[in-house]
Amino acid sequence: MTRVAVIGAGPSGLAALRAFQSAGKKKAKIPEIVCFEKQNDWGGLWNYTWRTGLDEHGEPVHGSMYRYLWSNGPKECLEFADYTFEEHFGKPIASYPPRAVLWDYIKGRVEKAKVRKWVRFNSPVRMVEWDKKKKKFHITVHDRVKDRMYSEEFDHVICSSGHFSTPQVPFFEGINTFNGRVMHAHDFRDALEFKGKDVLIVGRSYSAEDIGSQCWKYGARSVTATYRTKPMGFKWPSNFEERPLLQKLVNKTAHFKDGSTKEVDAIILCTGYQHHFPFMAEDLRLKTANRLWPLGLYKGVVWEENPRLHYIGMQDQFYTFNMFDAQAWYARDVILGRIKLPKLDAMRKNSKAWRKREEKLENAEQMIWFQGDYVKELIDATDYPSFDVESVNKTFLEWEHDKMHDIMAYRNKSYRSLMTGTMSPAHHTPWKDELDDSMEAYLKGR
Ligand SMILES: Cc1cc2nc3c(=O)[nH]c(=O)nc-3n(C[C@H](O)[C@H](O)[C@H](O)COP(=O)(O)OP(=O)(O)OC[C@H]3O[C@@H](n4cnc5c(N)ncnc54)[C@H](O)[C@@H]3O)c2cc1C
Ligand SMILES: NC(=O)c1ccc[n+]([C@@H]2O[C@H](COP(=O)([O-])OP(=O)(O)OC[C@H]3O[C@@H](n4cnc5c(N)ncnc54)[C@H](OP(=O)(O)O)[C@@H]3O)[C@@H](O)[C@H]2O)c1
Repeated sequence: MTRVAVIGAGPSGLAALRAFQSAGKKKAKIPEIVCFEKQNDWGGLWNYTWRTGLDEHGEPVHGSMYRYLWSNGPKECLEFADYTFEEHFGKPIASYPPRAVLWDYIKGRVEKAKVRKWVRFNSPVRMVEWDKKKKKFHITVHDRVKDRMYSEEFDHVICSSGHFSTPQVPFFEGINTFNGRVMHAHDFRDALEFKGKDVLIVGRSYSAEDIGSQCWKYGARSVTATYRTKPMGFKWPSNFEERPLLQKLVNKTAHFKDGSTKEVDAIILCTGYQHHFPFMAEDLRLKTANRLWPLGLYKGVVWEENPRLHYIGMQDQFYTFNMFDAQAWYARDVILGRIKLPKLDAMRKNSKAWRKREEKLENAEQMIWFQGDYVKELIDATDYPSFDVESVNKTFLEWEHDKMHDIMAYRNKSYRSLMTGTMSPAHHTPWKDELDDSMEAYLKGR
């Protein structure tokens, strides 16, 4: 029997499981699926851990999510087309759920699909190699419960191990003798640690924006964000400011590129993550920065050099859950032989054309339409339930506009589901006043 290995049971890996299960439900003959998950539960980053550094087995902690994290985009933009929020919660809910609510939603679909039996938990993949003679992948896995290493053969591999877990950590002069707390966003867990403190945030992307906002919300005395390329440019509250790049630290004094200085108690490096696949053999390993079109993947999914290998979720992300679905359905149909791939040259040419277009993108609006076009192309190629991608793009644009209008209030807005047509209700409490991020608090009174 054909065997497919799925690496990781986060939203991308779970999309793959659901894709195969849905084909099976429609009476297709599906391969044996084995999903290896290094953590003891599914949900990927959404499965919160209090741990930092190493986990209970001595593995690098995967989780980069933190307490009080709320979705940073409207849930209407990530909704599964085959399992709506309304189906899961039995009623419409507000547009920016906290982490626990989204984790519950992700789990609901795969619990309904009954695919947990396909997952081997506590099982980090150590090595994936291609055996040219046998035309099989040789996968070595570590069963952390039995502390046993073993190998198995597979016909196809789907790598969905995520790419926001291995920090990118720059050096700044004097940081090694800084007399305060220094951490990367990957290790950030609880904003209350910074109550009453002067916090320096390095970076200008989503982690910088959100961790800075959280520190502000939970009572930091001041937040200073320092940028390399350009400021985020939001209308920040009075004790939140942006400065050009940090040049050096002298004791607790931060020196910036414009000559200004600021005394700070803590530094949080929101400087992004590396695509890190130490378990993929050299000829199978994706090497890319965090961008909308990594090269080497036909349709953003199929490893061009060996189309029996697929990567899901490796792009920088506006679209998330429903894009992973579109990719998973595509990979599934390639594996099932429903989609015939062109020759290597044609695949490369196609990828280069997308990359060329990506390189010309100048702003978030263009990036959103680019990724929307990509998602649409994939869903048109499979039986993933079609949805109105253009309206999702427009919802993203509204979200961008709402953020620019008021960065500390955009999460109070509501949007219409593009899957059910239902308008989401307003949340009962403004985001900046709601300190409890539990599912019970969020769904209260609804
Ligand atoms: C701080 C933060 C906040 C975010 N917030 C949002 C948000 O609000 N909205 C949104 O849509 N997206 C958000 N994202 C984006 C996030 O990337 C996606 O939502 C989603 O989690 C990606 O799913 P994934 O399955 O590709 O990766 P992950 O969620 O990272 O899951 C990968 C899985 O693979 C497993 N794994 C890794 N290596 C191995 C191995 N060697 N062997 C076996 N298993 C392995 C991991 O344990 C993990 O379970 C956020 C990301 C971060 C870092
Ligand atoms: N609440 C939420 O939902 C939430 C919260 C946090 C993160 N996220 C998600 O997490 C993912 C990762 O976001 P991210 O912000 O961690 O990574 P990212 O989007 O890849 O951004 C990395 C940032 O690091 C900066 N940087 C890198 N090296 C630097 C250096 N040497 N000096 C100064 N700055 C440097 C970059 O600056 P330049 O741009 O100037 O080059 C960029 O701003 C995203 O998908 C995001 O949506 C979501």
